[in-house]
Amino acid sequence: MNKVNLGLPIGTPLDRFINKKQEEFPYATGELSQLLRDIGLAGKIINQEVNKSGLLDITGEYGNKNVQGEEQQKLDVIANIRFTRSLRNGGQVCAIISEEDEEIIHLNPHCRYVVAMDPLDGSSNIDVNVSIGTIFSIYRRVSPVGGPVQEEDVLQKGTNQVAAGYILYGSSTMMVYTTGHGVHGFTLEPSLGEFMLSKADMKYPEGGNIYSINEGSWHSFDEGTKQYVNDCKEKGLTARYIGSLVADYHRNMLKGGIYIYPATKKAPNGKLRLLYECNALAFIAEQAGGAATDGRQRVLEIEPTAFHQRSPFYIGSKEMVEHAMGFTKSSVLE
Ligand code: AHG
Ligand code: MN
Ligand code: MN
Repeated sequence: MNKVNLGLPIGTPLDRFINKKQEEFPYATGELSQLLRDIGLAGKIINQEVNKSGLLDITGEYGNKNVQGEEQQKLDVIANIRFTRSLRNGGQVCAIISEEDEEIIHLNPHCRYVVAMDPLDGSSNIDVNVSIGTIFSIYRRVSPVGGPVQEEDVLQKGTNQVAAGYILYGSSTMMVYTTGHGVHGFTLEPSLGEFMLSKADMKYPEGGNIYSINEGSWHSFDEGTKQYVNDCKEKGLTARYIGSLVADYHRNMLKGGIYIYPATKKAPNGKLRLLYECNALAFIAEQAGGAATDGRQRVLEIEPTAFHQRSPFYIGSKEMVEHAMGFTKSSVLE
């Protein structure tokens, strides 16, 4: 039995799990623990909004485009507000960058942590009762605590993440996170309103049988990605694509598979955002024994140059991602 699991059975509440983990690090100040608890609370609040959305006229378009020119859904906006408010009230964060905000949101300059987030992932699935999610990354600022947050605090490589996770609003609601010591999953027990440990030390299974890609964009894929997808078909793998990254990722981590959002002619750098989506999931994937690349290099080593930067994304079971790289590493868009 691994250390994490010792004395912490299935059903352990998230708050207790976080506290126990903190005790393993005698020099921990408790700030990161508090931040993770604040994120758990934000997840519960967004879960409530998602659950009742059909009743409250909060589905559909908000009537505005975000900084990336994408139509915002009402729930994108609500989730962004709720998450930001929880982190502001929690008092552990000096700055947030969000998929839904153009600029840095400055919070308490006396705090050490920066959060990058996609408050609601899978917008196109909101109105049709299909799984959606929240994704977050936590970094330690590099500029001195107390001073104004700088761009360098926010534009950090994925390898600098101190924690990352997601909340999946699915047939049940789950929070999955890592602090670099394994990946742990908590299921929301709705009558108690508590996230409880349901999967400790999650790992990809050996091998993998699922590939997830939007094949409707086939004609704009690069040659290497086309060859890899053909290879999946020749091997008789199973195609599964929900269109919510969090949900597709989660299934593939549990069952073994690869998720791909390649560069396309329409989106030459891919569609997914390095800081809000790719880095968090790449950190989790590696902790679970998987891998994540942009088709050429490890995602976590990409040096970001802009908040809203995008990246092609190949993530999942290690052997599958490495095999895909054999096709894509010198492939170009025509
Ligand atoms: P978001 O809703 O945060 O903008 O993210 C949507 C992303 C991702 O969740 C999903 O896998 C992908 O967009 C789907 O894109 P396609 O419709 O192009 O397949
Ligand atoms: Mn997203
Ligand atoms: Mn989003």
